[in-house]
Amino acid sequence: MTRRFGNEDRDIAVAAKMLRNGEIVAFPTETVYGLGADASNPGGIGRIYEAKARPRHNPLIVHVCDIEMAHNVAEFDPKAALVADRFWPGPLTMLLPKKVGSRLAPAVTAGLETVAVRFPSSKVAQRLIRAVGFPVAAPSANLSGKISPTRFAQVLRQLDGRIAGIVQDDACDHGLESTILSLIGTPAILRHGSVPQEPLEDLLGSLGEVGEPREISSPGQFRSHYAPEASVRTEVCEPTANMIWIGFGPDCEGCRLTLSTSGDLEEAARSLYDVMVEADLLARADDVIAFAPIPMYGLGRAINDRLRRAAAPR
Ligand code: TXA
Ligand code: MG
Repeated sequence: MTRRFGNEDRDIAVAAKMLRNGEIVAFPTETVYGLGADASNPGGIGRIYEAKARPRHNPLIVHVCDIEMAHNVAEFDPKAALVADRFWPGPLTMLLPKKVGSRLAPAVTAGLETVAVRFPSSKVAQRLIRAVGFPVAAPSANLSGKISPTRFAQVLRQLDGRIAGIVQDDACDHGLESTILSLIGTPAILRHGSVPQEPLEDLLGSLGEVGEPREISSPGQFRSHYAPEASVRTEVCEPTANMIWIGFGPDCEGCRLTLSTSGDLEEAARSLYDVMVEADLLARADDVIAFAPIPMYGLGRAINDRLRRAAAPR
């Protein structure tokens, strides 16, 4: 049985206690729902990998509720401090050297000497982490390879019965995962996400290239990921009869669904996963989910990245 929690203090306290006891609890953030475990508890971390059927070599993001907590698990150089000052709390994850002697369970970082740290702006997430009293490791609350959930009901559809609890709150504002910025060596974006590349480059100068995965393969970097059941095509301007066409902007007359009629990238990012879920429900046997082209700037980079992976051979 998966226990449902509201966002009252009492609910948060019970959910936090479950986490401290090594159970796993889903909770909303400003990006997508996360599946949390106390980052110092090896049992809880193991349960995350199991519940998601996630490959064990794929490390987790560590969520903190203030800067001090971040400094207890990672080493901040002046550049990292600058980024934190400008973008935290918010949908930016930094890859940093892991602090020696931190109490992080080794499986959180899949044995690596680096750690991905994120300080979410979601108040519910902050309250939950504070009540645990230690960082909360949390991947997105989906089965490995499937669509990331931005709503309570979507988490339950994938994970009901596989996780101990779930905290319900408003839908996730951004709707796309955090941007992952590596500050190991030359700053580079490892995963495009809810903070676009441009403001990061304004602060740091030009960033290194995002490569295909090297030694670690992470779902976010797997070629096939974020995938609905139906097959997906991108850059479709002229849909055929078996296509559920998803528009972007005012020129997509006749589309079944749209990411944003006005062509607003923030709205498109927010609705992307919801629309994928909806299109999947509409799709009959041989239907294909077809997306209109999305421009390649701002949040368009992250949206195109997710679409490319959704469309990749499975
Ligand atoms: O918005 C988000 O970031 C959401 C919410 C819940 O915070 N979380 C999320 O986690 O998207 P997940 O596990 O779905 O994606 C985390 C990505 C993975 O691709 C993983 O490989 C990478 O971060 N990652 C984590 N730790 C890493 C490390 N030490 N080195 C390289 N990549 C790392
Ligand atoms: Mg994920």
